[in-house]
Amino acid sequence: MGAMRFPATPTDGDSPMSSFDKDDIGWTPIMEEAQRATRVLHPEMLELPRPARRRIITVANQKGGVGKTTSTVNLAAGLALHGLNVLVIDLDPQGNASTALGVEHRSGVPSVYEVLLGEISIADAAARSTQSKNLWCVPATIDLAGSEIELVTMVAREARLKEALNSEAVEQIAPDYIFIDCPPSLGLLTVNALVAAQEVLIPIQCEYYALEGLGQLLRNIELVQSHLNPSLWVSTILLTMYDARTKLADQVSAEVRSHFGDLTLRTVIPRSVKISEAPGFGQTVLTYDPGSRGSMSYLDAAREIAERGAERKTA
Ligand SMILES: Nc1ncnc2c1ncn2[C@@H]1O[C@H](COP(=O)(O)OP(=O)(O)O)[C@@H](O)[C@H]1O
Ligand SMILES: [Mg+2]
Repeated sequence: MGAMRFPATPTDGDSPMSSFDKDDIGWTPIMEEAQRATRVLHPEMLELPRPARRRIITVANQKGGVGKTTSTVNLAAGLALHGLNVLVIDLDPQGNASTALGVEHRSGVPSVYEVLLGEISIADAAARSTQSKNLWCVPATIDLAGSEIELVTMVAREARLKEALNSEAVEQIAPDYIFIDCPPSLGLLTVNALVAAQEVLIPIQCEYYALEGLGQLLRNIELVQSHLNPSLWVSTILLTMYDARTKLADQVSAEVRSHFGDLTLRTVIPRSVKISEAPGFGQTVLTYDPGSRGSMSYLDAAREIAERGAERKTA
């Protein structure tokens, strides 16, 4: 789809930034409309604090269908629509995050797979999302499906993504936020995401068995903390697919809050048809239906995340 790519390598000799002009693409009507709607609906959101240092947030939960991808793309778009530079790394071979951000991910396009192999840089693989000019995505193609096995024999197999994110090339995008969308497993791809990040965001679906498997995820995070990435921590719990009509949703939410306390965002994402329809149009709900409850809730959640990060800096 219409996503723009970085040139593979800077063409002139001075600063790596100089060969890029992030404003050289057309500012599409859809972006404009989304930004206008965001301003009208959320005047308080005009200014979101820019984090003091880059925040790298892994969105993980080994259960499928809990809202990892949906939360990744909508939070990323929410921050980007307010002027922050945001990079999404799609680490799921399904490529759903790439789809929702309007970024091509058929087999053969430069993707996170080649990045993990060390063949290309993050900037080589990143494509600009159709959703915002400040939003970039490193797509996942089906080639990534084999990588869980291929990675096993590689040097520093758990730190391939971390190395790629540490490289100078990332400064061509200069993201304030990097979100990593994990596959529904605790394999090497998710481990790479946990090693590369400072923070983990866990989406929890307000449904039966919501907390099942969470213990295993937390133990894995602790293992990564103690052996590979001491600065990793669970910074954010996001309740998703909340259905106010059911008692169950309230029970799950109360249980999660009693267990995770303030790590749980005050904002809860409602179950919303608009949210589930948006990816079918290569969009986030923020552009698909800016005024919808789903869109508002993701904008609120994005603001909470930005403001909490800013509080922590000064604390
Ligand atoms: N708040 C929501 N309301 C309605 N449907 C949702 C909501 N969040 C996610 N979905 C839908 O649920 C399915 C699973 O969500 P997804 O984000 O892909 O989960 P995961 O990445 O954890 O597998 C998708 O079809 C998505 O569109
Ligand atoms: Mg997903």
